[in-house]
Amino acid sequence: MRFGKEKMILQNIASSSMICFLLLLLLPRNGISARAPTVQQIRSRHGTREVVVDNGIIRVSFSSPQGLITSIKYKGIDNVLNPRVRTRGYWDITWQGENIRGLDGIEGTNFRIITQNEEQVEISFSRTWNGGSKHIPLNIDKRYIIRTNTSGIYAYGVFERLSEWPEVEMGQVRIVFKLNTDRFRYMVVADNRQRQMPTDNDRDIHRGHAKALAYKEAVQLTRPNDIRFKNQVDDKYQYSCEVKDNKVHGWISTKSHVGFWLISPSGEYRSGGPSKQELTSHVGPTAITSFTSGHYVGRDMETRYKTDEAWKKVMGPVFIYLNSDSTGNNPRHSLWEDAKRQTEEEVQAWPYDFVASSDFPSRQERGTVTGRLLVNDRFLTPAQSAYIGLAPPGEAGSWQTNTKGYQFWTHTNETGYFTIDNVRPGTYNLYGWVPGFIEDFQYQNRVDIAAGSQISLDRVVFKPPRNGPTLWEIGVPDRTAREYFVPEPYKDTMNPLYLNHTDKFRQYGLWQRYTELYPNHDLVYTVGVSNYSQDWFYAHVTRNIDKSTYVPTTWQIVFQLPYVNWRGSYTLQLALASAARANLQVRFNNEYSRPLLSTGNIGRDNAIARHGIHGVYRLYTINVPGRLLRTGTNTIYLRQAKATGPFEGLMYDYIRLEAPSRA
Ligand SMILES: *[C@@H]1O[C@H](CO)[C@@H](O)[C@H](O)[C@H]1NC(C)=O
Ligand SMILES: *[C@@H]1O[C@H](CO)[C@@H](O)[C@H](O)[C@H]1NC(C)=O
Ligand SMILES: *[C@@H]1O[C@H](CO)[C@@H](O)[C@H](O)[C@H]1NC(C)=O
Ligand SMILES: *[C@@H]1O[C@H](CO)[C@@H](O)[C@H](O)[C@H]1NC(C)=O
Repeated sequence: MRFGKEKMILQNIASSSMICFLLLLLLPRNGISARAPTVQQIRSRHGTREVVVDNGIIRVSFSSPQGLITSIKYKGIDNVLNPRVRTRGYWDITWQGENIRGLDGIEGTNFRIITQNEEQVEISFSRTWNGGSKHIPLNIDKRYIIRTNTSGIYAYGVFERLSEWPEVEMGQVRIVFKLNTDRFRYMVVADNRQRQMPTDNDRDIHRGHAKALAYKEAVQLTRPNDIRFKNQVDDKYQYSCEVKDNKVHGWISTKSHVGFWLISPSGEYRSGGPSKQELTSHVGPTAITSFTSGHYVGRDMETRYKTDEAWKKVMGPVFIYLNSDSTGNNPRHSLWEDAKRQTEEEVQAWPYDFVASSDFPSRQERGTVTGRLLVNDRFLTPAQSAYIGLAPPGEAGSWQTNTKGYQFWTHTNETGYFTIDNVRPGTYNLYGWVPGFIEDFQYQNRVDIAAGSQISLDRVVFKPPRNGPTLWEIGVPDRTAREYFVPEPYKDTMNPLYLNHTDKFRQYGLWQRYTELYPNHDLVYTVGVSNYSQDWFYAHVTRNIDKSTYVPTTWQIVFQLPYVNWRGSYTLQLALASAARANLQVRFNNEYSRPLLSTGNIGRDNAIARHGIHGVYRLYTINVPGRLLRTGTNTIYLRQAKATGPFEGLMYDYIRLEAPSRA
């Protein structure tokens, strides 16, 4: 529309001698006039084909019909992407079928122009599965939209498998950009997570620039090109981010005053809900939009598709945004602020009304659910700032591992009211959780959304588990181990970004501090005396007793009971924020008795190794017969029984002992 208006003005004054003057006035800030994007199909000397879309602001080249982005020309930069690597703007999917495991670059075999008008160009690179085992059994359609007077590219993918297609596991679906190494050195993930970054070369272990560490993605920069990085750690997982906060990240060229950003206006197409952690940007320079992955969840992520399972999902659109600032003042500040402003604009425009695929419903074709969430934990109170969302039908909490459907999440306001809008038609469960309370909420009825649905649920009440009054508690129920003791990093393997930072847990090697703090005896926490922010180590890890020998550890909670109801039933509510190949055994007053709870082997979320402060949430409600307790001093033994290395372990979210109910 914007372009149309400009053209009208031009026609009206076409005969005027003022045309040149007006043209100058109409030039946007960047000095290039807005014009409809053009599409050119080019055959190179080597016989390869290219599609080039140019809107006067950016000029984007795609390999054709594969549909990889090979170059983005912007401002004075010929290619914002790294011309020295073969693939630099691409989708990929890791997959596993019967006797086959692969990384499919999902290259198209068919190029089509879907839309071309004065407002935009939409192009498609698609591939239909041909039954072979060379490619993932999936029909793919990669779409790109370039709009008039828009400094970026909208990208989305429509993926489909038909019933009767072979069983497959699709572990990771993402878009990756490798940026120009000469230009992009400054990375931004959040207001308080941005820094000048080392280079890929600095990470090179084989050339002796860096040293391998205990987990393969982490290296110690021993001989970096820039001496300032010496003895720092580089690890891409230090820049991971929860889906709810993962709306924009990217890189800045301080030399060219240009920014490159990946903007995710919605969480609907992501997996695992708002607390799922995904990679963002990291050394390369690399920027990733991750749609599905096992990160911080592991094998529990539902990425397997059975033979009779048909599936279709639209991933995206995401917006690849470029910006520039020629004022020369402080490009790091201005470009990041502008990227956030643009993100807000994209969020407001969601769901985009310019997407051609009929698989992407418009605003009118979506529905809304409103209601008010209350919590009944002895008293009825409004659920403040609770997370509430629609996700595919399943058990309470199943959204944490769901990858196949869409999820729509929001927050309740101070009085518990919520509006979930722009929901795609379908059948969902209403899920949620409330900071300050344990367990997952699930509304008893399914919610069916049709085009234009306006569903009002009025009052929905969440009754978190409780069998009696609280005797004592450790931590706060927030699904993370954030509030516990997080030690300082080692001087020769730290990331200065996270010194004196709210996210001090994003440091390498913190798990090793346990053995130093507790060389002979394990942690003992005395209720009423100890302070969980100082005395409860953030992760229940193994102890390193010799080079590569690790042993299980047993933590104790010591507490006093002035009186015991022998015939009553006490309850231990034990919420875990993370588990990695762990087996937690809980015993009362006898370290060698049969455990009251033995979780068996749980969790593959790797949050300890990957510096997350949580992985998947789990709650255990443990019945404790009064006869196991004593008047006076009692001890709970928490044993993490698996120990083959440094990374088996747990993070606790919250622990509470409840007295028998008086009823
Ligand atoms: C182009 O976009 C810029 C920035 O969004 C805006 O200020 C300008 O008015 C637009 N120009 C036209 C011709 O629509
Ligand atoms: C919460 O939302 C309800 C319903 O939209 C509204 O009436 C109320 O004023 C809001 N309360 C606050 C504190 O924002
Ligand atoms: C840590 O941050 C606080 C608050 O931003 C600041 O007052 C303090 O000086 C900082 N300490 C160090 C050692 O940088
Ligand atoms: C526990 O320790 C924290 C951090 O040192 C401190 O801020 C808090 O006041 C302490 N709590 C109590 C009850 O002493």
